[in-house]
Amino acid sequence: MCGIVGYIGDKKAINILLNGLSALEYRGYDSAGISIICNNAIETVKTKGKIIDLASLIIDKHTDLNGKTGIGHTRWATHGAPNTINAHPHFTKRVSVVHNGIIENYRELEELLNKKGITRKTGTDTEIIALLLDYYLKNSTPKEAFITTIKLLRGSFAIAALFKDTNTLMLAKNESPLVIGVGENENFIASDISALIQYTQQFIFLEDGDLAFIEKGKVEIEDSSLNPVKREIKTIHWSAESAKKGGYKHFMLKEIAEEAQAVRNTIQSRIDEKGNIFLQEEINLDEDLLKTLDSVTVVACGTSYYAGLCAKQILEKFTGVAVKVEIASEFRYSYPVFSKNNLFIAISQSGETADTKESLRFAQNSGLTTLSIVNVKESAIARMADSCIYTLAGPEISVASTKAFVSQLAVLYMLAFYIGKLKGKDVTKETKTLLSVPNIMQTVFEKTDELVKHIAKSYHSYKNFLYLGRGLMYPIALEGALKLKEISYIHAEGYPAGEMKHGPIALIEENTPSVVISPDFEPFYSKTMSNMEEIKARNGRIVMLSDKKSDIADSFIELEKIDYNFTPFVYVIPLQLFAYYIALYLGHDIDQPRNLAKSVTVE
Ligand code: G6P
Repeated sequence: MCGIVGYIGDKKAINILLNGLSALEYRGYDSAGISIICNNAIETVKTKGKIIDLASLIIDKHTDLNGKTGIGHTRWATHGAPNTINAHPHFTKRVSVVHNGIIENYRELEELLNKKGITRKTGTDTEIIALLLDYYLKNSTPKEAFITTIKLLRGSFAIAALFKDTNTLMLAKNESPLVIGVGENENFIASDISALIQYTQQFIFLEDGDLAFIEKGKVEIEDSSLNPVKREIKTIHWSAESAKKGGYKHFMLKEIAEEAQAVRNTIQSRIDEKGNIFLQEEINLDEDLLKTLDSVTVVACGTSYYAGLCAKQILEKFTGVAVKVEIASEFRYSYPVFSKNNLFIAISQSGETADTKESLRFAQNSGLTTLSIVNVKESAIARMADSCIYTLAGPEISVASTKAFVSQLAVLYMLAFYIGKLKGKDVTKETKTLLSVPNIMQTVFEKTDELVKHIAKSYHSYKNFLYLGRGLMYPIALEGALKLKEISYIHAEGYPAGEMKHGPIALIEENTPSVVISPDFEPFYSKTMSNMEEIKARNGRIVMLSDKKSDIADSFIELEKIDYNFTPFVYVIPLQLFAYYIALYLGHDIDQPRNLAKSVTVE
């Protein structure tokens, strides 16, 4: 939530800041702003709206922003309405600040300032940081003022401060992400590397408690005890192209089109054609623990949670170990009972989701062995867990998650087969089948794209949908319904088809269509056919996804025949496309749906 960028070097900062903010817009997009040092003064421009609105404002009114040092911010409001005054940066004549996170003790600090006659003008917690810095600057150097201020803050924050009287950007990190992009005689900062990959491949990931002082040719870092520390410079080879739309109208469609490749990338160096699985090095956990594992706890949010629900069935089937899947925001406040040999798995595309991160911390404090499955390199959840297996989906920009989901499934399946093998099961056939999945996914995307677009046209004006599935298709129904909600704002509910008769059937009538997901496997298929009869008897329209057509369906999306265990990889694709095209017909902002953000770093 909220994206930060910064630049210090010999180039004009404005373009770098605006490009970086555009790449970070997935983190929040209700208001935006920049501050740049120009002719010894801090110039700030900010506005309600998106980066494009900020850019137009700059073009119209602020053509003279020639400075080479600056900071920028794109916001997802937590404290204070999303308007221009609350947009970051927050500034005084001497200092300007951008912040991602929440200052928990801001009221306490505000009282302190009020006693000195200093008052807040905005509704934000962040303004307090700018006011404190300005206050301490009266009697101290910028560095001293920065340290004094940061030491007063409690909560989560990634902060970048720009000072009129020093050519140093100052950063502080606690809980929220902050990365320094290292260039030649120039340095960059951002919430996430996607904002910087067009400028550098060298990154320093700050750790919690770190303070950093950045000049164009120098980076100095101090830890929370103010001792100088060296943080490794890591090279990351994400291509700049991968973070661009590449001819697609939206990132979401591009990312659906990339799903087969994302799964291929995720599995190809980890399994081979003989059915060998090479995960030991990455997992790096005691093999005896995995052999004697007696339970698994999976925790995640949103789409990642549904990947966990799918994988539960596969993990249990191929390892014989009981698996619990929990929503992170509930798990962390529950009273879970763990068995002796438990493995705790946190799944997160961003690696930042606050509830998932705190659940992971909870698990660590409970003495569990932890593994994370994460897409964003070096993110908090990736670094916190005892070990991490990366999904290799590349940057996912659209807020609604697609290619990360199938890549998470790929990792979870490999993990199930790997643990199964350690426990003496023969999983060779399944491991080999996984290798063939990306090609089938590619065919499915190519064959269904136009058809789904056509079908979506006749369904886009309904206000409610039911998504029904059994077995592995139940979590896929949940994910399909979530996609529709997220980007089309249509109410949609995923349900186990067999549970329909215990409530949701009351909703069925001609204006409530059902999306029925039913590959041809018994006992599921025939039972689901009965459910479809029940829907038809109540005049409900049906969109059916299957490899075996039923005449009861009003619309039919034919899918490739595939081993039942792997159906989630295939059946989720037309559901993502269905949500995409409905949102397109409704004219919504698909990549940045209202009220949502990709990276949810608040509870
Ligand atoms: C947000 C996003 C979802 C995502 C969820 C979990 O709600 O909009 O697309 O599934 O967070 O995110 P994570 O990064 O932890 O997978």
